[in-house]
Amino acid sequence: MPYKISVRGLVHQYYNRHTKETVLALKDISFDVNAGEFVTIVGPSGCGKSTLLSLIAGLRKPSAGEILVDGVAVSGPGVDRGMVFQEFAILPWRTVQQNIGHGLEIQKVSKEKRDSVIARYVEMVGLQGFENKYPYELSGGMKQRVAVARTLAANPKVVLMDEPLAALDAQTRVTLREEILRISLEAACTILFVTHSVDEAVFLGDRVVILSRHPGEVKEIVTIPSSREERRYPSIHENQRFEEIKHHVFQSIRQEVEMADETTMRVE
Ligand SMILES: Nc1ncnc2c1ncn2[C@@H]1O[C@H](COP(=O)(O)OP(=O)(O)OP(=O)(O)O)[C@@H](O)[C@H]1O
Ligand SMILES: [Mg+2]
Repeated sequence: MPYKISVRGLVHQYYNRHTKETVLALKDISFDVNAGEFVTIVGPSGCGKSTLLSLIAGLRKPSAGEILVDGVAVSGPGVDRGMVFQEFAILPWRTVQQNIGHGLEIQKVSKEKRDSVIARYVEMVGLQGFENKYPYELSGGMKQRVAVARTLAANPKVVLMDEPLAALDAQTRVTLREEILRISLEAACTILFVTHSVDEAVFLGDRVVILSRHPGEVKEIVTIPSSREERRYPSIHENQRFEEIKHHVFQSIRQEVEMADETTMRVE
């Protein structure tokens, strides 16, 4: 069974030891992600999306508030939560198949079982023939596919993805969105997915959480009316309702970007 995530009154402040300044990154965030749900997070650059994910992953401790995963307060990282980072996060000294099998190795899964899972994921992300290559021999898109496969292969209850497709070319991006959607229906996991792309957020999510400008607060949560099974490119663009929701989300974020103080936030 996948796990439910509850975020309650989360506040996060960074402290810079050199300048002795504090930056309030997140201001009172509360929302739930139901077990097995796919929730996407959008918001202006610098609003605290990566911070939020790293807190749920247990990589940082919040200044206030709490995060419950399957009813248990997060106090550090755990194998129940897999994370795909904004920057490529694969081990440079391991081949494609060794990277994909890494999580299973940590979980002490037998070599036989590991090999069959690795083969399945290599195929799923289209890296057949590259199993024995090292990251330096791969393109950016291939590396990111390894990162996605590596996280999913470990079969986590919760998958946290921070713009995993941002560095990819448009065609690979669309293909991988469809892959991720399909995998999300097969794998028993709860997914929280950060993206800059409104199209991606609305295509993938059961719900879209829109964060306000820095310091981040939940501005709005939009429910996507169609089921994940029904969504395909390019036919999704012919769906009037999908286009209307995209427009709404886009306007909502744009309002935040326009209202932002440019001295405290990067605007892309
Ligand atoms: N390690 C850090 N130390 C101090 N401030 C930080 C640190 N990391 C992030 N911040 C600040 O916290 C705020 C939120 O940053 P965060 O990286 O979470 O934003 P984001 O929404 O992920 O942005 P982007 O869309 O550009 O990835 C920003 O104002 C940023 O400058
Ligand atoms: Mg970020």
